[in-house]
Amino acid sequence: MPTRLLSPQEALDALYESQHAAQRTTYRAFYSSELGGIVTDPALFVVQLDDHMLHRGHGVFDTAMLVNGHLYQLDQHLHRFLASAAKANIPLPPGMTVEQMRRTILETTAASCKLNGHVRYWLSAGRGGFGLSGNECLGSAFYCVVYTQEVPDSKLDEYLRGWRVKTSPVPLKPPFFTGIKSNNYLPNALNLMDAEAEGFDQGVFVDAEGNVSEGPNMNVACLLADGTLVVPPFDHSLNGITVQRMMELLPAAIEEGMEGIKRVEQRHISLAEAKAATEVFFISSSMLIMPVVQWDTQLIADGTAGIVALQIRVMLQNDTKPRPASDQHTEVPYGFMTGMEEA
Ligand SMILES: Cc1ncc(COP(=O)(O)O)c(C=O)c1O
Repeated sequence: MPTRLLSPQEALDALYESQHAAQRTTYRAFYSSELGGIVTDPALFVVQLDDHMLHRGHGVFDTAMLVNGHLYQLDQHLHRFLASAAKANIPLPPGMTVEQMRRTILETTAASCKLNGHVRYWLSAGRGGFGLSGNECLGSAFYCVVYTQEVPDSKLDEYLRGWRVKTSPVPLKPPFFTGIKSNNYLPNALNLMDAEAEGFDQGVFVDAEGNVSEGPNMNVACLLADGTLVVPPFDHSLNGITVQRMMELLPAAIEEGMEGIKRVEQRHISLAEAKAATEVFFISSSMLIMPVVQWDTQLIADGTAGIVALQIRVMLQNDTKPRPASDQHTEVPYGFMTGMEEA
């Protein structure tokens, strides 16, 4: 069959006709510095092919959770986002200040008209051709998307069953790159797909010294028999915002009587020591806490979700709930919608 040559109208029609179900029902709002504004029609959530983030992976991203009309830990995520951008040698788009970028994230969230969901944003080296160096780019680009997630009924109580994980055969990125939340997630995607292919829920990266690093998009923690919760340091893993919040909140929670845990320690932990832990769990902003019940062929303790993981899950869940004068929450200015300029 000959390849079709499309007219501009046919190409535009195809953008509409080719929308998949999740796109139509869960993609809510999109800002593009290339478009110069926000669109809410998911057919138009488009990034151009000459964007270096796309054809060279020269981009960084971050996310934040939208909870009851507030972005949880937006400023903490933004801080890491800007640090990633600096390491990736990506400046802010021409004329865009950090304050403007933050406002754009909040206004894109407002345009979604959703109270709960996720916001993800990218800084790209920008457009300018198909070369390698970001120096050919006309200016960096900023994108932001708001989406909601349908959790199937079968997954609602997944945290009670826990996950089975596999030591990943995929090599861990070198330390400089594990510390940048960049668009180069090929090892991370391969980690997960390798685990899924063998019936596991996730893979765990291990570093060259045999120490546990992290999951493909989550940090990991191991509770030892003496009540010490060990979190691998961030020299071979991403400095997760949620695991840092957990470490900030735990001392008071332990003081107030959280059961089964005595202290938190950040240090390297070998694969063998981790597998012998009484509890293992993953931590991330998208799912907070997920207990691990089996690692390779070995059950973790008795192979059921641990009580420390479940208590920490509740602690973090409570922390995501907006409350007055919280430095962890930013109210979405839904009212600003009325002040937005029409296209
Ligand atoms: C590689 C990696 N590690 C850890 C995390 C957890 O980080 P956070 O708690 O900021 O979501 C993520 C999630 O974004 C990730 O992609």
